[in-house]
Parts: sequence; C-alpha cells; structure tokens
Amino acid sequence: MRIGIIVHSQTENTYHVGEKLREKLLESTPDVAVERVNMVGGNRPQGKDIQIEHPPEVDGYDVVIFGSPVHAFSLCPAMKTYLEELPSLEHKKIACYVTKRLPFAWTGGKRAIGEMKKICQAKGGIVFETGIVVWNKKRSEQIADLSEKVSTSLARSKR
Ligand SMILES: Cc1cc2nc3c(=O)[nH]c(=O)nc-3n(C[C@H](O)[C@H](O)[C@H](O)COP(=O)(O)O)c2cc1C
Repeated sequence: MRIGIIVHSQTENTYHVGEKLREKLLESTPDVAVERVNMVGGNRPQGKDIQIEHPPEVDGYDVVIFGSPVHAFSLCPAMKTYLEELPSLEHKKIACYVTKRLPFAWTGGKRAIGEMKKICQAKGGIVFETGIVVWNKKRSEQIADLSEKVSTSLARSKR
C-alpha cells in the first residue's frame, strides 16, 4: 500500500504536520511520501488566478492525505484549486487536515475541512478521517493526536 501526503504550505506549519504524520504512518506502512502543492510564481497570496506548478499526481497512491492552511475562514485557495483540478479519486481512501492560527471554533477550520471533504467525495474518494490543528502552545499534542487518529482509522478501514 502506498500513502501520499499532499500538502500546501506557505510558512511550513502544514508541511511540518505532514512530516510528523509520515513518521507515524511509517511505523506500519513502508511507503509513505510527502509531496508539496506549489503555486506558479511562489507560494504567496495571488488573487483569483491561481495556477499550480507541476501538480502532484494521486494515481500511484492507495491512500491520500491532503493538508492545507485555513485562509480567510475557508480552505486556502491554492489547495482548493489543486483539489478541484484533480482527476478521479475513485476507490481511494482519503484523509484531510488543516492548520490554522485563530483559536475560536468559528474561524474557518470546520468550513475548510467541509470544503475538502465535499470536493474529494464528489470525485469518488472515501474520506475516512479529518483533523484540525490550531497553531498554539499545544500544537505538538494536537499533531500527535491527529497522527494517532489517522493511523488507527486507516488500520480499521483495512479490516
Ligand atoms: C492570508 C492568510 C489568511 C489566514 N486566515 C486564517 C483564518 O481565517 N483562520 C485562522 O485560524 N488562521 C488563518 N490564517 C493562519 C494560517 O492558517 C496558519 O498560520 C497556518 O498554520 C499556516 O499554515 P502554513 O504554515 O502551512 O502556511 C491565515 C493566514 C494567512 C497568511
């Protein structure tokens, strides 16, 4: 089984979570890769006309974990564009996570996860887990919880 962790990250928080997830998943699966979603022209806010540079392909993965920051109370536009332009996710197991800075529940985490789930499911993906990491003093615990949750749900979904 091949697992791909595909992340967009502008200040490395989301990428860091992807690396931690990879470490955890390598305990039970030998083939886990982290790939980046980058924008043409650099990873900074670019208005509406976003283009993704060499979009990571999902074809070779059985399980795909998408990670993104929350921007403006929603899914970051670069990840939204990337997901919308993906081909079919039929038969793939999918997990989604976001990182965010604001602590309050109404500041975009659930909405961003909802957007990711909706796009993935519309392409036939089977979303087995989701998670939100708030970038605060307790982020290490949150990242460990997310890693445990994804690993356990994945093991359960194999039975
Ligand atoms: C343009 C912009 C908009 C943001 N909007 C939100 C927001 O609505 N809610 C929130 O909790 N954090 C928001 N953040 C904070 C990021 O989501 C947070 O710092 C995230 O962990 C960054 O991930 P990265 O380092 O992978 O880019 C915003 C950051 C930027 C740059």
